[in-house]
Amino acid sequence: MSSITQPPGAPVQPRDPMAADIARILIHRDQIEARNQALAAEIAAVYNGDSAGLTLVPILSGSIIFLADLIRHLPLKMKLALVQISTYPGKATSPRKPRTVLALSGEVTDRNVVVVDDILDSGRTLRQVHAMIRQRRPKSLRTAVLLRKPSKAPPDVPVDFVGFDIDDLFVVGYGLDLNDHYRNYPHVAVLHRELMP
Ligand code: IMP
Ligand code: MG
Repeated sequence: MSSITQPPGAPVQPRDPMAADIARILIHRDQIEARNQALAAEIAAVYNGDSAGLTLVPILSGSIIFLADLIRHLPLKMKLALVQISTYPGKATSPRKPRTVLALSGEVTDRNVVVVDDILDSGRTLRQVHAMIRQRRPKSLRTAVLLRKPSKAPPDVPVDFVGFDIDDLFVVGYGLDLNDHYRNYPHVAVLHRELMP
């Protein structure tokens, strides 16, 4: 066992430097965990007994934490096919045309496919991913999102499994980022106004 002591006069490190940037927690990790269990049960009920294979398509990078927690509650055999889309390059928070960074990998043809994303905002990202998957002729195509901003969600981008509806706020944590930071903050949260670009 090793012991680490602060040298005299060393600055005291804040216990959680990210927490200083957070104005308020919108959805606590315990609420997310409970909702993930219910969502996994909803998804399992749809595909239970279906002999076509199931493939989940997480949209990187925002969905990774949600995906990891969700699939550990899913009592189904499944495969993963990855796709990476960049929506907010750099510090921008106003959406531009999504860019495909990593084209769809993995098996989706003739399989039941569930796209997994962190948030449905304008729907541009999901519209692009849905089109990419449809070209490969899946047996079925459904979508799960942790968060939805219903005031903005367009009617032509259907989502089948929704964790939480939220107001039109910019949120970080639990996979969601600003300039690639805060993905590891365990709760869904709102930043202090001065940190917003
Ligand atoms: P959409 O294409 O406008 O629906 O936006 C979806 C993508 O933009 C998501 O996959 C997120 O990566 C990102 N995004 C949208 N709203 C937020 C937010 O409030 N915080 C962080 N990222 C967001
Ligand atoms: Mg994203």
